Amino acid sequence: MAMTGVLRPGHAVIRVLDLDESVTFYTEVMGLKETGRDKSGRVYFKCHDELDHNSVVLRKADKAGLDCFAFKVLNKATLDTLAGRLKDYGIATERLPAGEMLETGERVRFQLPTEHVIELYAEKTNVGNGLGRTNPDPWLKDTKGINPTRMDHCLIYGPDIDANRKIFEEVLDFTLVERVKLEDGSTDLATWLTCSAKAHDIAMVRHAEPGKLHHVSFLLETWEQVLRAADLMSMSRTSIDIGPTRHGITRGTTIYFFDPSGNRLETFCGGYDFYPDMEPITWTWDEVGAGIFYHDRKLNERFLTVVT
Ligand SMILES: [Fe+2]
Repeated sequence: MAMTGVLRPGHAVIRVLDLDESVTFYTEVMGLKETGRDKSGRVYFKCHDELDHNSVVLRKADKAGLDCFAFKVLNKATLDTLAGRLKDYGIATERLPAGEMLETGERVRFQLPTEHVIELYAEKTNVGNGLGRTNPDPWLKDTKGINPTRMDHCLIYGPDIDANRKIFEEVLDFTLVERVKLEDGSTDLATWLTCSAKAHDIAMVRHAEPGKLHHVSFLLETWEQVLRAADLMSMSRTSIDIGPTRHGITRGTTIYFFDPSGNRLETFCGGYDFYPDMEPITWTWDEVGAGIFYHDRKLNERFLTVVT
């Protein structure tokens, strides 16, 4: 098997203001499946084609935003190796015991220079996608709402995204896939990185305030499902930020919208496959609008300013 190290985004812990309203939204509109609640009141969900117990966790709080974003690594030995590499790089890590999150093994937690909390873990209970692993049907009947395939990536906002990128590249073996340059032609406004063959597993935008969430994104399989998702958002009076449209960056088709607490989410489809022998793509400042929103060819103010 070619893939080692960090495998993929694993879970996003999202802060919400009203738990009941949020559970209804993530269940009925997003179509995620609730898989459990823990003693501290966190509610766990998975998307329909995910095998592991959870990928989205909601925590009630006074402020919306992202508590942490986690990546699943190959196995426990890999977790120990990466924890050692973080330490050698000078990054403080904390170990959270197995079971602190439902059905989730030991986690290694650390903070990025942008103050976002990242976790690595190797084990999460495989509850399956309901289709089995022998002669499976292609999809489940009786699904709800938008029904994304998986939680796919996140975009975070903070000041020192250069230091963030170095950690992802030098410690966790991520690769730079795309970048947007500022007017000076050298400073990165934004970077897209992958740990896999996806166009991105995490992205970051330079922003004065640390620790901010721009969006958590969910994969759909077709452009028609993106259109259907927009219909469902309108039917449920969900606040749409922009879309359906296309990103020039990654080529993904997209809708940005908000959960009831104001956290921006994305449903998207597409994006090319990335392999390590490919050069990163660069977007220049004069074409940044087309990079973000390919049809409008200009940024809206909200893209750069509305974060949780
Ligand atoms: Fe995205």
